[in-house]
Amino acid sequence: MPLVSMRQLLDEAAKGGYGVGAFNVNDMEQIQAIMEAARETKSPVIVQASRGARAYAQDNYLYHLMLAAAELYPEIPTVLHLDHGNSAETCKSAIAMGFTSVMMDGSLLADGKTPSSFEYNVAETRKVVEMAHAKGVTVEGEIGCLGGIEDGHGAGLDGLSHLTDPDQAVEFVKQTGLDALAIAIGTSHGAYKFSSKPTGETLKMQRLIEIHNRLPNVHLVMHGSSSVPKELQDIINQYGGKLKPTWGVPVEEIQLGIKNGVRKINVDTDNRLAITGAIRKVFFETPEKFDPRDYLKPAREAMKKVVAQRMQQFGQAGHAADYAPIPLAEMARMYATA
Ligand code: G3H
Ligand code: 13P
Ligand code: ZN
Repeated sequence: MPLVSMRQLLDEAAKGGYGVGAFNVNDMEQIQAIMEAARETKSPVIVQASRGARAYAQDNYLYHLMLAAAELYPEIPTVLHLDHGNSAETCKSAIAMGFTSVMMDGSLLADGKTPSSFEYNVAETRKVVEMAHAKGVTVEGEIGCLGGIEDGHGAGLDGLSHLTDPDQAVEFVKQTGLDALAIAIGTSHGAYKFSSKPTGETLKMQRLIEIHNRLPNVHLVMHGSSSVPKELQDIINQYGGKLKPTWGVPVEEIQLGIKNGVRKINVDTDNRLAITGAIRKVFFETPEKFDPRDYLKPAREAMKKVVAQRMQQFGQAGHAADYAPIPLAEMARMYATA
């Protein structure tokens, strides 16, 4: 099946009441891990590339690897999404390359760290919506800012400093016409989200529920949603790593979000941890090895395991066959007549 729009996946997920994991990729092995997990669990899937990934791998490599994925896994509805586009220009180049969905993160200025004004966010996001919808491409926007800065996106601090204001969220959706809305409820990117085990109060789930009640038909997105499992931290540290104790977002909180309008859940860090742990283990136990396949294969397998588990936990497993792909040109017509 051709790469499909994210709007189609999220609409379908809303009908079915489940969430869809959006997993970051930078290379072939990560794409393979996700596609294998999708086949094993019969899941629709969102594969996303950040600006950093595009710079690392080059667009043409990423795009053609994704075409290979669509060819090799014809039964899996697959979206290629731009994660944290920092400007209309960045979104434009992704659309020109063939991405079927883009995020315009106008919650921050183009530097990816300075919180912007509401007016700036609306203007940039609206610009991208007009450009993307004309081609049937989906748009995710963000209101409120995530914490952390570890991986280059985020307003710093602890994730609680720039929570989404529900009134602004309503106005933002009205003024931009976007397809999916990322909200800030206390998460941050990277491994160091919380320095103690989250209690039911750590994430601002009431805020999420309030936003969902005000915008019941808008697909909500949770960024910074890695759970940072202790088992994965332990493997890294057991084989010479030096991670400090840390906690991520409990899967049960994500599941509560899914019951309240969350349709897209961003996960990158958990896969990074799984890959690094598997590679460290090979290096530590068999230091004589030097064929990259000896450590990339277990790394790919470790990532696949995490992704497959999340697909089950988010509820997307078993839903791959529900889709008849809607061509982007048809999506464009739908936007034009809406
Ligand atoms: O939002 C952040 C994702 O984890 C991607 O991170 O910009 O280091 O590729 P990156
Ligand atoms: P994590 O760092 O929690 O995996 O979040 C990833 C993310 O939000 C990508 O946009
Ligand atoms: Zn993010």
